[in-house]
Amino acid sequence: MAIYKNEFQRSIEQPESFWAEQAQRIPWFTPPSTVLEYDDQGHARWFTDGEMNICHAALDHHVEQGRGDQPAIYWDSPVTGSKRTLTYREMRDEVALFAGALQGLGVTKGDRVVIYMPMVPEALVAMYACARLGAIHSVVFGGFAPHELAVRIDDAQPKVVVAASCGIEIDRVIPYKPNIDQAIEQSEHKPDACIFLQRDQQRAELGARDHDWVEVVKHAKPADCVPVKGSDPLYVLYTSGTTGKPKGVVRDTAGYAVALHYSMDTIYDVSPGDVFFSASDVGWVVGHSYIVYAPLLRGCTTVVYEGKPVKTPDAGAFWRLISQYRVKSFFTAPTAFRAIKKEDPDGKLMQQYDISCLKALYLAGERLDPPTYHWLDDLLEVPVIDHWWQTETGWPIAANLQGLEAMPTKAGSATVPVPGFNVQILDREAEPVKAMEQGSVVIKQPMPPGCLVGVWGDPKRFHSAYMAAYPGYYLTGDGGYFDEEGYLFIMGRTDDVINVAGHRLSTGEMEEVVGAHSAVAECAVIGIHDALKGQIPVGLVIPKDGFDGDEVTLENELIALVREKIGPIACFKQVLVVNRLPKTRSGKILRKLLRSIADGKEYGVPSTIDDPASLQDVHEAMKDREVGSAHEARQL
Ligand code: COA
Ligand code: AMP
Repeated sequence: MAIYKNEFQRSIEQPESFWAEQAQRIPWFTPPSTVLEYDDQGHARWFTDGEMNICHAALDHHVEQGRGDQPAIYWDSPVTGSKRTLTYREMRDEVALFAGALQGLGVTKGDRVVIYMPMVPEALVAMYACARLGAIHSVVFGGFAPHELAVRIDDAQPKVVVAASCGIEIDRVIPYKPNIDQAIEQSEHKPDACIFLQRDQQRAELGARDHDWVEVVKHAKPADCVPVKGSDPLYVLYTSGTTGKPKGVVRDTAGYAVALHYSMDTIYDVSPGDVFFSASDVGWVVGHSYIVYAPLLRGCTTVVYEGKPVKTPDAGAFWRLISQYRVKSFFTAPTAFRAIKKEDPDGKLMQQYDISCLKALYLAGERLDPPTYHWLDDLLEVPVIDHWWQTETGWPIAANLQGLEAMPTKAGSATVPVPGFNVQILDREAEPVKAMEQGSVVIKQPMPPGCLVGVWGDPKRFHSAYMAAYPGYYLTGDGGYFDEEGYLFIMGRTDDVINVAGHRLSTGEMEEVVGAHSAVAECAVIGIHDALKGQIPVGLVIPKDGFDGDEVTLENELIALVREKIGPIACFKQVLVVNRLPKTRSGKILRKLLRSIADGKEYGVPSTIDDPASLQDVHEAMKDREVGSAHEARQL
């Protein structure tokens, strides 16, 4: 570990010179005179006065350097039967034209643009076009319902919304136009215009506010890159917090570009000309960082895949893509491989493809559970790497750094902190714990470049959500421990955030939706273990006094309500009507205990419980309704 240790120490002891060196590897219009500053609340700010444009660094710069004819994007869409390759030159030109179209609709530096698109090249074109103008994009995942979109529109206040006419799931076409119309109807803020990419699978009927993508581009003049300050926001990406209102994570421009560039080299070990495939979605942070920005900043080709790990058409889809596009680094969520393993337990489909180009497999989004790790490790001849990160950090906090010094992997561990991230484990009193002891995982300030610089429109929330718990440290919200050799094990969230099929969701938000039903007096939503999706939510509901309706009808209404308000990706499919919920004497629902029961663990009755019989009741109800592994749970 000597090379790693040396690099890590340098990044922590001399952050300014370390990152100044890395900053020289990206093109600037004006190099920064200051590397690291602190704002009035003591939060790190990187390269604030440098001037650059990430679209220039990722596209124009490479064309100028002779990479114009190299593919920038391989788009592969089994759900539509289409494929398309865009070279760096074509991509730059399409982006410049679309930026011109946005300009024509009045978008200028600092304006927000909401993007609601499936995995099509135009989603990347729209994101880069915003970046080209210095406008701030906010991409909303297509699986979110109109209400969620409305919340984001009200918070980000976009001048323009860019959408596709539809998205395509395994078994159905999802029209996006009604979602956009309903969202704008529900939101107080009304965007000036919407641009729709018309897709043949379902075209949108355009209204007065709407424009056809092809038409706006036809009349547009290509726009140049607008120089932006290093600290200017590139995007706002909403993520689930512990309350109903999602947090708009604000990412700056230059720190992000420098960090991503460094990660491509050091973590993922890819060089210009290599092919990088991240099977995620542009609506998530993985998509932003490792489908859209990092591969092109590094001069690689990015694979944009509109399909699923299974059923489009089969569980061999990833192997086909890796083989066909000669992918060197592949990145996805463990849940995708659990789905593949279910359909093709012996990995027979993999044998049909030559995947000798693959040098490493990276997994994130949720903990790589040891059974899935071992299955992959036995199947593949390349390193299987669990790495840990969050929307807030924008790039990995802990990883096995293949480009710096590959280390032996350990099942269940994300290996070691990435240079720049001073990860510590603290107890409740903010004291560091010993090796092998679990605690709260925090990052000592300064956070390295690339991490969030605020919560959109809510500086207080930035401080209260992340910085207030342990002064001088960023609170990750995850619990975990270091082993004796310095390997980091991330064991799960310590708050109300759950991870469903690699999607981050808030049980608090689901409780708000369920609790708003007129027949519900009280409720708890807990995340329980699921063999395929990692976790799934389950609702426990106490009806209001005098409720004489049908319980099954109520349960179905609540399921429909969450689907309508949050979206199908919440996977909220099980609700139980109960008479009482176990609480402490101060009235706090014992959610952790409920989770233990649903996960089939042994549990004790806490001395603080108000009504011990309530626990018995709920356990019985869970057993009757076959919730998780409740039948295996035992009271100690
Ligand atoms: N637009 C509209 N609906 C969407 C959607 C989108 N972009 N994405 C998912 N949905 C819907 C699905 O159709 C499904 O609807 P249903 O309840 O009617 O069946 C629901 O949301 C749940 O979707 P999902 O959790 O994806 O389940 P699935 O059973 O369709 O697929 C997996 C299971 C494991 C194949 C899939 O979850 C997967 O590929 N996961 C990897 C996730 C990932 O890459 N995350 C990125 C983090 S790195
Ligand atoms: P998101 O912001 O959607 O990327 O989700 C971040 C959360 O996912 C983290 O706080 C963790 O709880 C979880 N997570 C992501 N990657 C990992 C990993 N490799 N190991 C354990 N948990 C992870």
